[in-house]
Amino acid sequence: MEPKSFYKTAYWDVRENDRLPFIQEAARWLQAREPVAFPTETVYGLGADACCDEAVQKIFTAKGRPADNPLIVHVSKRQQLWSWGVAENRSVEAEKLMTAFWPGPLTLILPKGSAVAETVTAGLTTVAVRMPDHPVASALIEESGMPLAAPSANRSGRPSPTRADHVWDDLHGRIAGVLDGGETGIGVESTVLDISGDAPTILRPGGITQEMLKAKGVDARLDPGLLRSQQTPKSPGMKYRHYAPKGELWLVEGEPERMRKEIQKRAYAARLEGKNVGILTASEFLDGYEADQVLSCGSVLDPSSTAKRLYQVLRTFDQAGVDVILSESFSRDKVGAAVMNRLEKAAGGKVIRV
Ligand code: TXA
Ligand code: MG
Repeated sequence: MEPKSFYKTAYWDVRENDRLPFIQEAARWLQAREPVAFPTETVYGLGADACCDEAVQKIFTAKGRPADNPLIVHVSKRQQLWSWGVAENRSVEAEKLMTAFWPGPLTLILPKGSAVAETVTAGLTTVAVRMPDHPVASALIEESGMPLAAPSANRSGRPSPTRADHVWDDLHGRIAGVLDGGETGIGVESTVLDISGDAPTILRPGGITQEMLKAKGVDARLDPGLLRSQQTPKSPGMKYRHYAPKGELWLVEGEPERMRKEIQKRAYAARLEGKNVGILTASEFLDGYEADQVLSCGSVLDPSSTAKRLYQVLRTFDQAGVDVILSESFSRDKVGAAVMNRLEKAAGGKVIRV
């Protein structure tokens, strides 16, 4: 479905100090039930009043997002969850996790409060909540005086935006405005942790890792749907081909030497078929390949640099008109687990093991 009206999307540069007037303008659009994009520490979000179905519906329309995929509600203070009717059943477990990781890239699945719009939770009895660790996001929530339902600010299925120009490319003409707070820090979305059932379960790996949870005494298991099985993931969003560049992405896994040989072999074969070929590698191996575009996602020794660059690099392949992307697999250590999860989603099952 196309948006009802064409928006003259505003661009607000809030990278410098005097950002309040722009944040106030953005907040007025939110109060007028119009969607606005803003930076968080993970990726850019597309926000709307989480208590208003009409406003939230515009997020789904702008993104072209399937209606059965629920959104995360963002708050700037823990108290707002209960006072704004976002969540219910304040639990010791939830409070412990919030104390340890908020503000930060941890989304919690809690029993839903009565004020949250039905469209936000796609009819579920639970709600996803998080407190972003970004001054622009907090200021926007404070100024607008509302909880913000916000998915990543990309067209549905595209790589998440880590810069305001990514949002602009995907959504200008479809939303009221975008606040440019510069490049986001983490680069992949928050960890989604379900604490509404018996055992804490990670539904989506992200900035807060299983080990970090463990260090705070929380033994979280991975949703079996995340592992390579036929089970349906519990987080509705994880079942779609996602985070995907326009070019067809193949993920190659295995012993490093064999993996690189296989990638180069396939790259030559694809070029013989007349395809524009991209290779996604680490900075250490940038010079070892021949293809139309060889791009690095940071050092093999630093998963956080890979996370930060991943979506930008996927978008660069698109801009170069690459038909086929052959990607190395990266370390699953720390935030690397989230990186590999996104690459697997982007590959949509096209994984080669050598
Ligand atoms: O870092 C992030 O989390 C970013 C920034 C903008 O905050 N947001 C984000 O939102 O990634 P989105 O909509 O792209 O992803 C939300 C994920 C989806 O996989 C969705 O299915 C899941 O959270 N989710 C939301 N509500 C849920 C619920 N009640 N139960 C299970 N999964 C839920
Ligand atoms: Mg998303």
